Order: sequence, then C-alpha cells, then structure tokens
Amino acid sequence: MTAPAGTGVPEKNPVVIAVPKETIVGEQRVATVPEVVQKLVKAGHAVRIEHDAGTAAFYPDALYTAAGATVVAGRHELFYGADIVLFVQPPTVDVVAELPEGTIAVGFMNPTRNLDAISRMRDRKITAFALELVPRITRAQSMDALSSQATAGGYVAAVLGANNCPKFLPMLTTAAGTIRPATVLILGAGVAGLMAIATAKRLGALVEAYDVRRAAGEQVRSLGAKFIELEINAEGQGGYARELTAEEKVMEQEMVSAAVARADIVITTAAIPGRKAPVLVTKETVAKMKPGAVIIDMAAETGGNCELTEAGKTVHIHGVTIIGPSNLPARVPFHASQMLAKNLQAFLGLLFTKEGALVTEYADEILKASMLVHAGTVTYQPAADLLKGGKA
Ligand code: NAI
Repeated sequence: MTAPAGTGVPEKNPVVIAVPKETIVGEQRVATVPEVVQKLVKAGHAVRIEHDAGTAAFYPDALYTAAGATVVAGRHELFYGADIVLFVQPPTVDVVAELPEGTIAVGFMNPTRNLDAISRMRDRKITAFALELVPRITRAQSMDALSSQATAGGYVAAVLGANNCPKFLPMLTTAAGTIRPATVLILGAGVAGLMAIATAKRLGALVEAYDVRRAAGEQVRSLGAKFIELEINAEGQGGYARELTAEEKVMEQEMVSAAVARADIVITTAAIPGRKAPVLVTKETVAKMKPGAVIIDMAAETGGNCELTEAGKTVHIHGVTIIGPSNLPARVPFHASQMLAKNLQAFLGLLFTKEGALVTEYADEILKASMLVHAGTVTYQPAADLLKGGKA
C-alpha cells in the first residue's frame, strides 16, 4: 500500500496478484474466491480478476469487487504489471505468450506433459510453481491441492455411480418388500478413493475396497468399509504405490475379478505417479459383471484402470455402463474452487516476506521442490530431461 505523502514511510507498491478466467473447455473452477481475495487485500496486496472468471463456479464479479478486487475486462489489462498469476489448469502456450516476462505463475502445471508451454515459460523467464510438485509433508498440508481436488473428485465419482445405477444404494424395508443394499467396490484407497468410500457409505451401500498399499487397510476399515486383503504390499517411495511385478499383477487381477463380479458400482482410482494407470479390470472381468453394473474409472485420463474405458466417454458393454470421466472436480466447482483457493493462499504465504513484499530468494524447501521453471531454466529435472530429449 502506498504511504501518505510526507509521512517519511517509504512508498511500497502492493504485489499484484492476477486471476484469469480459465480457458479449457469444461473447466468451471477458478483459482481464487472472494473469501480469499478479502484476506489478500487486507494483507496489503492488490488482486485483479478477469471478468467472469468465477461465474461458472457461482462466484459472480460483484462478489470479487465487494471483497476488494479489481475486475478487468480482458487478459491484456489483467496481466499488465502483474507480479503473480494464479491458474487452475496449466497455462497454454497462448496464455504464456501474454504473460509479462518475469511473472510468477502458480497452479497445476502438468509438469511432465505440458512441455510446449513449459519451454515457452522458460524462454519468457517466467517463474512457475507446480502444485503437483508440492511435497506431501506436514507443513505443506494446507497447500496440498492434489488432495483437495482428489477429495472433490472422489465425492463426484460416488454420486455419479449412484446416479447411473439402476438400484437404490441403501437397504430399505418397505411395505413393498425389503430392498438389499447395493455393493460398491472402490479400487485404490488413496485420497479420492477414501472420499468415494465415505460418500457411498453415507448413501447406505455395502462398501468394499482394495489397495496395494497395506497401510490403506486401516483407513478403509475406519470408514466402516471392508478391506480386501491380498498377499501384496506395494508401498513405494513417499507413501505412493510402486508398480507391481508381472506375477503380482496376475494375482491382483484374479482377486479383483471376483470382487468386481459381485459389485453394483465399481469406482477405480488407482494411479502410480508419472506412469500409465495399472489395468485392474480386464475385458474378461467386465463380461462377468451383473447387467446394470456401473464402472466409474477415475484413472481414465491416464490410460484407465479398466481395459474398456474410453476417456471422456460413457460406453455400454454387456449391460455394464463404463464411464471414463474427465475433470471430476470441475463438476463441483463452487467447493473445489474454494478448497483450491485456500491451498493457493497458503502457498502464496511462502512467496511473501513478513512485510508483504515478494521474497527475493526461493530458499524454502516447499518452493524449491515445487519450482518448475525459473530465470530461463527448467528447474524440474524430469521436465528438463524430456525437453532435452525432444530438443525443444
Ligand atoms: P494416487 O492418486 O497416486 O493413487 C491412488 C491410489 O491408488 C493410491 O492409494 C495407490 O496406492 C493406489 N494404487 C496404485 N496402484 C494400485 C494397484 N495396482 N491396485 C490397487 N491400488 C493401487 O494417490 P493419492 O491419493 O494422491 O495418495 C497416495 C498416498 O499419499 C496415500 O498414502 C495418502 O495417504 C498419501 N498422502 C499423504 C499426504 C500427506 O502426508 N500430507 C497427503 C495426501 C496423500
């Protein structure tokens, strides 16, 4: 904030934080919400929002204005003089071309796949931080956008399963007879899977779950679901799953096959960071499923946990509905945006000094780990190696 003339206090320009309207089709989320804007403005920063940026998430322009932001008509005005730009989806090559040189960009960056935009950010000397690279340490929990958005996705997956299932989920005792509860099977009990379990339980289903990490068993049971045990424990680095051996894969598919055959709804969430999703449900397994059964394949965008999934589509095979949804968190844009905005607010805290100025060194371990591009260099080694391989 600018000090009044003659007070002797040195003038200080506020840090300008800009939030564009997302450009990817179907993306309804926004990177900040009025509640967070109010806090940023109170801390002395200036917040600019592109017109209609929050409309699809049900945060109209007027709420941002009331919170102290300036709503601007287009990206040119938005980015001019901006210090920090917040994104939900990774910026495209076109958007990067409009960012002023030296801007700080924070958001999901798709750090090993969005290579064209990453090399463009390198060339424009953008400093980019990828939310995917925020380490999963206790101090960074409030910034864990992978978890907040997986929570939103897991909830939507369970609701989508219920909505496409021809049965009730709860047990009902009625004058027209007793209805048995539906069985919901969750494959992969990480953040999204646990939320899907909790949601299906609340809807009254019988819930079973399986994960290659044995540690997930306790969490599954604490939600009141049955954990399917297998003689495999594939806990890998950083608490994530490792890829299974060929022998283990066969064992897993056989065991999964029996559980899938008795389920009314199967929600698959299994992922291995940086790799194609493992196939857990083969086409032979789908053929054993009950007519009317539903598969929600949350791993559709990384190859699918079911062999018959088509990303972004719904297919019907042998009376089984297989849904390969894309961007599930965008289907609950109000709360998904609220959670993401709070993650970003916590992350921004690392970029400011106590006085509210931008830090000049990125010494914090969370900043170091999540930095993707800085000062003309791709600092995230896997992306740098891929770019070197492709000579971009
Ligand atoms: P993810 O999205 O990478 O994977 C989803 C789940 O699929 C994981 O639970 C994984 O074990 C499972 N999976 C992978 N291959 C499988 C296979 N072949 N069969 C069955 N399941 C398979 O994981 P997510 O949800 O991002 O988190 C994974 C781990 O990280 C969990 O242990 C979670 O508790 C931990 N975590 C720790 C945090 C922290 O300490 N701050 C925050 C968030 C998560």
